[in-house]
Amino acid sequence: LVQPVVLSGGSGTRLWPLSREKYPKQLLSLVGEDSLLQATLRRVVGTPGVTLAQPMVVCNEEYRFVIAEQLRLLGESATVVLEPCGRNTAPALTLAALAAIKGAADPVLLVMPADHVITDVAAFQQVVSQGATLAAAGAVVTFGITPDAPETGYGYIQTGALFGGADDNADACGANARTIARFVEKPDLATAQSYLIAGNYLWNSGLFMMRASSWLAALGHCRADILVACQNAWKIGQTDGEFVRVGKELFAACPSDSIDYAVMERLAAQTPAKANADTAALPPGVVIALQAGWSDVGAWDALWQVLPKDMHGNVLQGDVLLQDCSNTLAISEGRLVACVGVSDLVVVETADAILVSHKDKTQDVKKIVDRLKSQQ
Ligand code: GDD
Ligand code: MG
Repeated sequence: LVQPVVLSGGSGTRLWPLSREKYPKQLLSLVGEDSLLQATLRRVVGTPGVTLAQPMVVCNEEYRFVIAEQLRLLGESATVVLEPCGRNTAPALTLAALAAIKGAADPVLLVMPADHVITDVAAFQQVVSQGATLAAAGAVVTFGITPDAPETGYGYIQTGALFGGADDNADACGANARTIARFVEKPDLATAQSYLIAGNYLWNSGLFMMRASSWLAALGHCRADILVACQNAWKIGQTDGEFVRVGKELFAACPSDSIDYAVMERLAAQTPAKANADTAALPPGVVIALQAGWSDVGAWDALWQVLPKDMHGNVLQGDVLLQDCSNTLAISEGRLVACVGVSDLVVVETADAILVSHKDKTQDVKKIVDRLKSQQ
C-alpha cells in the first residue's frame, strides 16, 4: 500500500506577484489547468504495480478551504492534516506518518512537494513503483536529478554502490538504485561546484518514499525532540470531517527543521563501512535516478523553461502582444501587456502589481518581496 503525502506548506516568494502569502505557488495553475497541487495528486494515479491509499495533504490551516475546494474540483477525497503553524518539513512528514499508521497498517509514504512540475508522468510512475518495493523492504528512498548547474538551494546526494550489490537482488533493485554515500543539504557555491566536477552527485528532488514506521524510527534516532513534540500534539488531535487537527500549543513547541537536515544528512552517514552502534538503528538510504522532466519551478526563469514556447522562445499567457521579442515570458491576468523588441525579459501583470525582470535575475524577485515585507 502506497500512501501519497503532499507537503503543501511553502510560500514560493520568488514567483511574486502571482504567488502571494494568501495564495501561494502550489495553489496556482502555472502550467495547464490544474494547480501544481492538483497536478501532484493526479500524477500518481494509475502508478503500475502499486495500490494507492487515499492521499494525504499536509498544510497550514489557513489554506484548508482553498485546498478542500481544489480537491473537490479534482474529484479526489483526501485527508487534510492541518498544521497550526509552520515547523518545516520534518514535523509535517511526522504528522503524516502518525496519521498513516492505523492499527497494523504501516504504508509506504510517497512524500511529494506540492509545488513541483514533472513532465514525463510515465517515467515518474516507473521509479515510484520501483521505490515502493525498496521502501516496503525498509529503505528510505530518495529520487535524484542529474545536476546541470551549481545550485545552492538543493540537497546533493553522492551516489554509492549499486543498491543490493552485485547479488541477485540487483535486478529487483534496478541499475539506477544506489546507496546514498553522502547527503549534503544546501552546500555553499564552491562546494556545489566541486560536486558538479566530481560527477557522482545528484540533486535531491525532494520526493521521498519510506514506510511510516521507518520515518518515525529514523527521526526518533536523529531528532527525538521533534518526534516527541509531534506525538504530543498528535495525541490530543481531532478529526473534523476530512480535516485532522493537532494540538496548537504543543505543535508550536515543536522545533522547526527540514527532512533533509533532520534525517537525510545523518542517514547517509550509514554506509556499511561506517555502520556502528550509533547508526545501526537507521534504515538504509537509497537514491533512484529520476529522469522525468523534473523542475521545482523555484523562480520565473524555471517556469519559462517548462512552458511551451513560440518559435522565438516566448511564453505568452493571457492578453499579451509581443512584437520582435525573444525568450520572454509575459503573463497578463487582466490588462493588455505589449512588449516590443525585447529579449530575455519576464513581465507579469496582476491586478495590483507588475513585475518586469531580466530573465537571468529572477532569483532576486525574493529581494523585492523581502523589501515589501519590511515596509509593512
Ligand atoms: N506542510 C508543510 N509544512 N509543507 C512544507 C513546510 C511546512 O512547514 N515547509 C515546506 N513545505 C513544503 C513546501 O511547500 C515544498 O513543497 C516542500 O515542502 C519542500 O519545502 P521547500 O521549503 O521548498 O524546500 P527546499 O526547496 O528549500 O528544499 C527541498 O527541496 C529541494 C528540491 O526542490 C530539499 O528537499 C532539498 O534537498 C531539495 O533539493
Ligand atoms: Mg522548494
